[in-house]
Amino acid sequence: MDDIDVRMEVAVRTAREAGAILLRFFRDLNGYERKGRVNLVSEADKSAEAFLIRELRHYFPADGVIAEETEQPDWGQSGFVWVIDPLDGTTNFVHCHPHFCVSISLIKDGVPIIGVVYAPIYDELFCGVRGRGAYCNEVPISVSQTTSLYTALIASGFPYNREVDVLAPLLERVQRVLQASHGFRRAGSAALDMCYVAAGRLDAYWEEDVRAWDVAAGVVFVEEAGGRCTDLNGRPCDIFKGKVIASNSHIHDELLALLFDSQ
Ligand code: IPD
Ligand code: CA
Ligand code: CA
Repeated sequence: MDDIDVRMEVAVRTAREAGAILLRFFRDLNGYERKGRVNLVSEADKSAEAFLIRELRHYFPADGVIAEETEQPDWGQSGFVWVIDPLDGTTNFVHCHPHFCVSISLIKDGVPIIGVVYAPIYDELFCGVRGRGAYCNEVPISVSQTTSLYTALIASGFPYNREVDVLAPLLERVQRVLQASHGFRRAGSAALDMCYVAAGRLDAYWEEDVRAWDVAAGVVFVEEAGGRCTDLNGRPCDIFKGKVIASNSHIHDELLALLFDSQ
């Protein structure tokens, strides 16, 4: 087994185990804390993250770790860095809404090379390695063949910053998408939105204020499934820059133009 195979095997096992930790807390939470007015964190986030970091450090002590609930990034010494969201979809989780997941990615030189996302309620495990394809429950996935925005289903997310000057232009873009497409979805998990683009369940997804752990795994899936990920200007996606548009590739330029050329 090479470096990547070993890391993939551990990432898949730990994602499943972290998913089991989340399930133990689901619908049985003793409250939550606020990182901001609407940015929540619970004991489920913290327990799953502690478990993931402990396991990954045990097997790969020289690898770096960047995790949502841990303030200081650790870039490690091996060149490999794990990027972890122990619970993507915390707001759903806190409200007993079943759409959430664990997301793990391995990056090298800032580029995601492994993605593993596990949605425990659905028992769906997405995984992918750059150059080796993307899978859902071991079945290869590919993006949709939709060639026009007119027949597309598009998703996005809303930022935790709810200032009017941020929300108003965003909602105007949402309106444009609603008018131009089959529909718009805001399901509450960026990582699953990216999985769903890769699996052809959504034709595109964009978001304007995400963190690396929200999208790193998804970039691997979407690109390996035949799709395209860029920033909002059509340049290669940098997971640390906060802006992403992921699509089946066919409608990418049309969506970019609708969202950002027309202002
Ligand atoms: C959030 C979710 C949400 C997205 C936000 C993310 P969290 O992550 O992915 O769908 O719109 O941008 O921060 O806080 O549930 O881990
Ligand atoms: Ca997240
Ligand atoms: Ca999270």
